[in-house]
Amino acid sequence: MRSISQGLAAAAWVLTCLGASAQEARLDPWPAERAADLEALQSGARTFANYCLNCHSASLMRWNRLHDIALDDKQIKANLIFGDQRVTDTMTVAMNPHDAKLWFGKAPPDLSVIVRARNAVEHSGTDYLYTLLRGFYRDRSTQTGWNNVVYPNISMPNIFWERQGPREATLTRIEYQDVPAAADKGPSRQRLVQTVSQFDANGVAVLNRTELDQGEPGFAYGFRPVDPAAAKAVDSQVADLVAYLNWMSEPAAQTRRRIGVWAIAFLVVFVGVGWWLNSVFWRDIR
Ligand code: HEC
Repeated sequence: MRSISQGLAAAAWVLTCLGASAQEARLDPWPAERAADLEALQSGARTFANYCLNCHSASLMRWNRLHDIALDDKQIKANLIFGDQRVTDTMTVAMNPHDAKLWFGKAPPDLSVIVRARNAVEHSGTDYLYTLLRGFYRDRSTQTGWNNVVYPNISMPNIFWERQGPREATLTRIEYQDVPAAADKGPSRQRLVQTVSQFDANGVAVLNRTELDQGEPGFAYGFRPVDPAAAKAVDSQVADLVAYLNWMSEPAAQTRRRIGVWAIAFLVVFVGVGWWLNSVFWRDIR
């Protein structure tokens, strides 16, 4: 009996979570073909070293592990390492976590296994990161001056803003809200309300609220870049970066898959040979 009620409670919880996800941002699919593309991985490593290691570390990763994506010690030293780190060191960060917390309100997390850490039932870690890193918009009301459609009120600024160029953002949220009772409308009640927030490129917002008679709760967003070509170039740069983050989360994944294919090929051939030997062996005895 107890397990039935526990089961029901679990089912109710799952349904609540599914309901909540209707309010979450749609994720763009990360172009997964870049996972094994050496050029993309190298470009991602460059972006990571230049743009992310200022604040984040990757303390499970040694510089010379980048040999696996076809970078040699000379290239690593010349293009990726700043300061006096050696190729045998891990990718640590100069900033101390205490200062970081003081500046940003939150310490930037270590990114070594961030893709795996953000894998969830509803989405893959790669889609999440691909959308998060391209999901920033200017918002005057936050401390950093930035906000994010995937992670509202994130305390990380938009790292690619200069390359991306200014963008306007439109956020549309439909949700049930308590509407105070109007004189002629009886007691306060829940109404479906649509809020459209239009952020201009400077982060100044115009809000528009309308009550809806019908509709589904949900959240949608869209961006209007002033320079679409520049924004598209950043999309591609971020896709490479996510390929790198994905590789860093499990550097042996490609090798493991390659070995898996060989192991299966070997088994297939071995079964064939076994079959043939078996028939040859029994031919004269029968
Ligand atoms: C100026 C410092 C700074 C730089 C540079 C920076 N970040 Fe961050 N990042 C932060 C801070 C602070 C947080 C914590 C934000 C929070 O939880 O509100 C964060 C959080 C994150 C998160 C976690 C989001 C989550 O779901 O919890 C990811 C992923 C991330 N950063 C990726 C990156 C990548 C990739 C780069 C390089 C393109 C980068 N960051 C560059 C400061 C920075």
